[in-house]
Formats: sequence, structure tokens, C-alpha cells
Amino acid sequence: MCGIVGYIGAREVTPLLIEGLKRLEYRGYDSAGVAVMLDGQIQVRKEAGKIAELEKSLEDEPVPGKYGIGHTRWATHGPPNNRNAHPHATEDGEFALVHNGIIENAGTLRKMLEGRGHVFSSETDTEVLVHLIEEVYEEGEGRAGESLERAVEAALSQVEGTYGIAVVSTRDPEKIVAARLGSPLLIGVGINGETFVASDAAAVIAQTRDVVYLDDGDMATITSEGYVVHRRGTGPVTRPVNRVDWDLDEVERGGYEHFMLKEIMEQPETLRETMRGRLLEDDGRVKLGGLEGMDEELGDAQRVIILGCGTSWHSGLIGEYMLEDIARIPTDVEYASEFRYRRPVVEPKTIAIAISQSGETADTLWAMREAKQQGATCLGIVNAVGSTIARETDAGIYLHAKPEIGVASTKAFTSQVEVLAMLTVHLGRLRGALTASRGREIVRALGQLPEQVAQILEMEPAIRELAEEYKDSPNFLYLGRGYNFPAALEGALKLKEISYIHAEGYPAAEMKHGPIALIDENMPVVVIAPKDAVYEKIKSNIEEVKARKGSVIAVITEGDTELLAFADHVIQIPRTHDALTPILATVPLQLLAYHIAVMRGCDVDQPMNLAK
Ligand code: G6P
Repeated sequence: MCGIVGYIGAREVTPLLIEGLKRLEYRGYDSAGVAVMLDGQIQVRKEAGKIAELEKSLEDEPVPGKYGIGHTRWATHGPPNNRNAHPHATEDGEFALVHNGIIENAGTLRKMLEGRGHVFSSETDTEVLVHLIEEVYEEGEGRAGESLERAVEAALSQVEGTYGIAVVSTRDPEKIVAARLGSPLLIGVGINGETFVASDAAAVIAQTRDVVYLDDGDMATITSEGYVVHRRGTGPVTRPVNRVDWDLDEVERGGYEHFMLKEIMEQPETLRETMRGRLLEDDGRVKLGGLEGMDEELGDAQRVIILGCGTSWHSGLIGEYMLEDIARIPTDVEYASEFRYRRPVVEPKTIAIAISQSGETADTLWAMREAKQQGATCLGIVNAVGSTIARETDAGIYLHAKPEIGVASTKAFTSQVEVLAMLTVHLGRLRGALTASRGREIVRALGQLPEQVAQILEMEPAIRELAEEYKDSPNFLYLGRGYNFPAALEGALKLKEISYIHAEGYPAAEMKHGPIALIDENMPVVVIAPKDAVYEKIKSNIEEVKARKGSVIAVITEGDTELLAFADHVIQIPRTHDALTPILATVPLQLLAYHIAVMRGCDVDQPMNLAK
């Protein structure tokens, strides 16, 4: 949440900051701003609303300069308005700063700083940082007043919370000082003395593919001579330069109206990429390079804990069903935000799996750290290469689904479920719970998924018609059982995230313990009912809905004439292994949510109040 970009070099800085911010807009889009150094003065320009507002303001009245910092905000403290937008500057305009994260002791620090005469102009937690740095620079003991980096370091030692920051000051010009703890930050190493700082590689990819990921506790000083990284409290360190392996077109819409539609439509390709080189069909096994050398720990594990948030938590639920059903390992799935604060017991021989598209979600990261600290072996299922979770886990499996820009997760979800299926085969075979012939069945079914998803995507016109019919419904219920209960949750989440229609996902049999009270002719009920182990059971749940005049939109297996005749509408998906049905069932539900949202005039890629 929130995007940061900074630049120092020979070119005009504002166009580069704006270009970077536009690529980060999916991280937050309620306001944006830049701070640019010109003739020894910091010029700050900020605007509420999307980056286009800031761009327009800068076009009308340009701010020239050779270095500076920019920010796109997702509000945490204080409403999205001009005052609360970043960068935040001190009263005399000598220090300016952008921040991503949350300062937990902001209240105490603010009181202390106000007592010492600082005047605040926003409601944000961030603003305390810039005043604190100034205070330390002016009044700090020892070496704090020697340089901006010393002041930032000393100030951060008083701060509790998470941050990725970039700071500039007229007192120590020609440099940007950056620091991180719990929020991502990287350096983009350009050519001809150009250096960038950003919260995400997407911001710099148009200018350079060479990036240096900062670790928690790292600080960096960026000048026209290059960059130096050092650990807070110790000395300089060398961090490797990584080459970003995806292209600019991955973060562009490629002819589609929205990123979300592009990302839905590219799922045959992303599912293929996720499996590339990993399926060993003849052996009924998979080859997961990231887990090499871990056979002993994985074979001996007594329990799996899956940690995630949002859509990633939903894929984790499917993983739980798979790991227990097929690999026979006791598995729990936890909301990362609950796990990290509830003093969980992590037994010996536990494997914790952190699932995160971004690899940066703070709750998932800290939950993973908690599990690790309690002795668990930590695996990551992550999309963003080089992200914090990917770097801090003991081992992991990348999705290779390329950047996901649409705020509502689509292709990352299907790839996550696919990775969980591969992990299940790996563990099942390793632990003897899965025979070669059953392993072969799953591996073969995995190999067929890209084609099957392509076939489902061809139904887009029919799904658009369905969307037309139901777009004005104020409520939706999504039902599923077994493997498809989490798919029902995911279908409902997609709809509510982007169309603002209230939607609930439920285990189909639980419906009669409450939600059934809501069913009448105005309640569309999406039922995921493929021909799987619980087909007969869910059929009776559909009867219960029909008996109360609810309209049933059923996701069924091709050739199921019974439900074809019985449901009000059907979406037919190809037959696959039971464990993989959620992948096929989710794709049409993504399209349904997408088209309903577009028809309702919603901003699909940047839904209200959300950010990645
Ligand atoms: C946000 C996004 C969701 C996403 C969740 C977890 O809430 O809006 O789409 O599922 O974060 O993100 P992660 O990057 O950890 O998968």
C-alpha cells in the first residue's frame, strides 16, 4: 500500500517521478505528490485524487529540478485530501519525506514534537517522521547533526512501526536518503549516474532493469555518484544487483480496457508458466527447484500452517483441502493478521507456508516471521520475485505469473492453487501418501488446465449476458462444498471488491443455518456444483434454494444434463481432477464480477478504498 519513487541524475526529475508513480498507482490512488529540489529549495506539489490530477497540475505549472521524491497514497491516518497527501515537509520547507507503512507511536512522538514547537499540518502518522528528523538534525546528540543519513538513522531509532521512506533536505543537499523496515524499497541502478529509489520495480522498469532490494534495517544514500547501502546501527553492506526478468508490457494493458480483464484473459499462459518444467507426468511427480535439498524436513513434517490474507487466504483454504485429502498432512489455514497477534502454538516439525502475490503484505510477512521464530520451516508461495517474503522464507515456489496490476487478484489466485496442487503432489509422493498412478492423474490434469481455461474464456460473451441480467441485484450468495467452498468465497470477494454489490460466500450446507432466511426471488445464488465427490450433496442444497424461489446460477461440469435442466442459468466447465475444479470454477466467476462491475460503471482496476 502506497507507492514511492525517487530519482537523482542529469534529467528533469518530475516527468520521471510521474512516470514511476503512474506505474505504482495500483498501490494507492487517493492522492499523490512530489518534492523536487531546485536552487537549494524544496518545491512540494500535491493533489488529492488520482495521479492524473497531479500530472495536470505539474503541466500547468511545472516544477523543474534534478532530483526529488514522489508518492501515491492509500490513506491510513486521515482522509484522502491535499493536506494529508505526501510528501510531508517541515514548516521551513527544509526537509521533505515520503513514507509507506504505519508509525505506531506517532501519537506520543507528535505530542513530544509539538511540545518542542513543531507545527503539524496534517493528520497523518507520517508527518511525525519529518519533524523528528529535523529535530534530531538540529538538536540531536553526537553525530546526528552531521548529515541527513545520520539524522534519519537517529530519528528512526525512536520510531515503532513499519516504514519505507525517502527523504531530502536543503541542509544536506544532492542526496536522497532511504530506509526500510517492513515496507518494500529498492534502488534502481541506472546508467550515466542515474539512480532511482522505489517501492516496487514497476516504477523503474522503463528506465532500468538492475535493482538492489533493500532488507529490513537497511538504509541507502543515493547521490549522483551512485548509492551506498548500510545497516542501521552498523556499517556499509553490499547487496546484490538483481536483473528484473519481466518486460514493460507486463505492466501495461496490452489493448485491453482494464488490467483485470487482461489478467483474466492471460490465465492460460500464466498457468502454463507456473507449471513450466515442473511436471514429471510419467513418474507422477513434480520437480520444484525451490524446494531442492528439503526432502528430509518436508518428509518428516507433522503439520502445515498456511498463512495469507484476502485472495491468498482463499487459495490457502484450497491448499488445506488438498494437503489433507491427498498428502494426508494435518493442515491449518490462518488469517495472517490473526495468527501474528494471537500467541499461536507452533509445534516442532511444522511447515509454515506464506502465500502472497506481492510478497510484501505486512501481516503475512510478520506472521511468517512469528512462525519462523517459533521454529517452523518457512516456505513461500509468492509471485513478486525478490520480494521480502520470498527472501525471508527458507525455501519457496514462485508463481512466475508476471506482475499483477489489477487490484482484485485473478491470475495470481489460479497460479497459487496450481502451485499448491504441485506442492501436494510433491509432499504426497515424498511421504508415501500418494501412489504413482494417482500422482500421474493429478499431474496429467494439471497439464490440461491451460487449454481448459482457454475454453472457459471463450464463454465470455455468454457471461456478459448473464452479467447484464443480474447487474442490478443488491445482494448475491455464492455457495460451494468441499474444494469449491473456498472458490465460493473467492467468487463473492471478487464481486464485492469491484462492483460494491454485497456478496457472501458460504459452505453450501451451512446456508440452512442462517443465510437461507435471505433467499427469495430477488436473491441470485451462484452455486459451484461440478461432478465431484460432493455433487449429490450440493444438488440438494440447490433444491433448497429453488424451493424458496432463489435464482440459481450453477457452475456445472459439461454434460451434466440434470443441473442443466434444473438451474436458472448454467456455466459449464470441463471435467478435471476434483482438487483442480476450483481453478476452472473461479475463472467464469472472475468474468462475471468483471462485467457486472463494468456495467455498473465501477473503476475495476482501482476499486474504492482498496489497493494492493
Ligand atoms: C489486498 C488485495 C487482495 C489481496 C490481499 C493479499 O487486500 O486487495 O487482492 O488478495 O491484499 O495480498 P498478497 O499480495 O499478500 O497476496
